[in-house]
Amino acid sequence: MWWRDAVFYEIYVRSFADGDGDGLGDLPGIRSRLGYLRDLGVDAVWLTPFYPSPDADHGYDVADHTDVDPRFGTLADFDALLADAHALGLRVLVDVVPNHTSEEHRWFRNALSDPEHPDRRRYLFRPGRDGGPPNGWTSAFGGSAWQLDGRSGEYYLHLFAREQPDLDWHNETVQRDFEEVLRFWLDRGVDGFRIDVAQGLFKDQSFAEMEEPDPPTWHADWVTAVNQPELHPLYRRWRRLADGYEGDRSFVGEVVLENQERVADYVRPDELQLAFNLALLWDDWDAAAMRATIDRTHTAMSAVGAVPTWVLENHDVPRVATRYGGGADGRRRARAAALLLLALPGSVFLYQGQELGLEEVDIPDGLRQDPLFFHSGGARKGRDGCRVPIPWTTTGPGFGFTAAEPWLPMPDEFGRRSVDAQTEDPASSLELYRFALAHRPAGAFEWLDGPGGILVFRRGDVVCLVNVDAPGLELPSGELLVASESVADGLAPATAAWVRTR
Ligand code: NOJ
Repeated sequence: MWWRDAVFYEIYVRSFADGDGDGLGDLPGIRSRLGYLRDLGVDAVWLTPFYPSPDADHGYDVADHTDVDPRFGTLADFDALLADAHALGLRVLVDVVPNHTSEEHRWFRNALSDPEHPDRRRYLFRPGRDGGPPNGWTSAFGGSAWQLDGRSGEYYLHLFAREQPDLDWHNETVQRDFEEVLRFWLDRGVDGFRIDVAQGLFKDQSFAEMEEPDPPTWHADWVTAVNQPELHPLYRRWRRLADGYEGDRSFVGEVVLENQERVADYVRPDELQLAFNLALLWDDWDAAAMRATIDRTHTAMSAVGAVPTWVLENHDVPRVATRYGGGADGRRRARAAALLLLALPGSVFLYQGQELGLEEVDIPDGLRQDPLFFHSGGARKGRDGCRVPIPWTTTGPGFGFTAAEPWLPMPDEFGRRSVDAQTEDPASSLELYRFALAHRPAGAFEWLDGPGGILVFRRGDVVCLVNVDAPGLELPSGELLVASESVADGLAPATAAWVRTR
């Protein structure tokens, strides 16, 4: 049960390290940097999709689930990466994208080329209504979730981009196919899977209309089209399948629900081991809100005997330092939040560059790449700002990520934030993460009394204090293990510390 208190590190494959000098990250690049991850002190890496893809959603439009896109390497590169990771004691999760395929997947090509082809039934084609789409469902990327297939006059469903047709999970062939996909990677030795859009697979077969909140929410709690009961027997089968392999293989579901009680349904003892808890990620820098999220998470997860997980960044949201206000204030809060995150009980998911304290990059519109930007006609800026390649060395334009032009421009200040610049600087974000990862507190969690604006809890013999926005506070007596800023004059606002008190 290694996953119960593991730290996972998300590698956004195209932005981690470029091994072949084309400006795009790849598997050999990742392999060459595994030592960094071992030294950082994480337990496992999650690789975002590296499968053949026409890139309508940067790899989340998969054209072949059991191969490597030549831009990222080969299956042999994958095997070598996995072997090296295992030799260093790092586990590897791959991304499985079961809700939809690419429009270029052979199943969908068959489906479009011949309405009688059996592959057509793998997707959700429906006749239109009153000269328009079958219903009013909308895509997460904007506009109708239905695209007209001009040839047949029917529409197909896509909850994301038009180039990402949704699969029909009520079709047992689809279910069987994905068991084969899981086996393919488990046989190669992966330690588990991150499941994309885990609450989405089965659709409401009545196709009832939904009431969309205005303004839009980050979560899918209102999306009655998905989160169907059929998911649970499916995940039980997947769990049995993975449990048939040696080595405690595991699943983490991207369950995009705000309501933790509903998330808990996915992590009952015989279903997925973990689900992302995305709630903390959307809280402001606000002690009461964060405490409420932590409490709700604990209550919901302990009700089913599941492990809480904690996430402050991923490849879909602005960097945490920017969300917390940006600039020096945002970076300071992000450092304090790191000590909160790594002191909470359960598993933690870090996103590459989070340990460097990177901020969201403001990409000029002309250089943006995220389909969200294009599908929304520029109204939504999209996710490129957190997907900029990470800096390893101090000089641009590639900062050790690439010898060529990086696929997204890297700002000058990345030199100062690079791995080389921060290594062995005791005041750096990177060294704070390294220390905290090596000294994560363990033991029972218990809130301690503290003034408003401060989070104080005990883990075993360590007291963790996060001064969110209260006046300065004296530290409890004991051995100061680590602090996110100097505490010579007490615990100032936006500062966290771990103190051994027993
Ligand atoms: C969630 C992924 O994290 C995101 O990047 C992607 O666009 C959607 N799922 C659709 O696959």
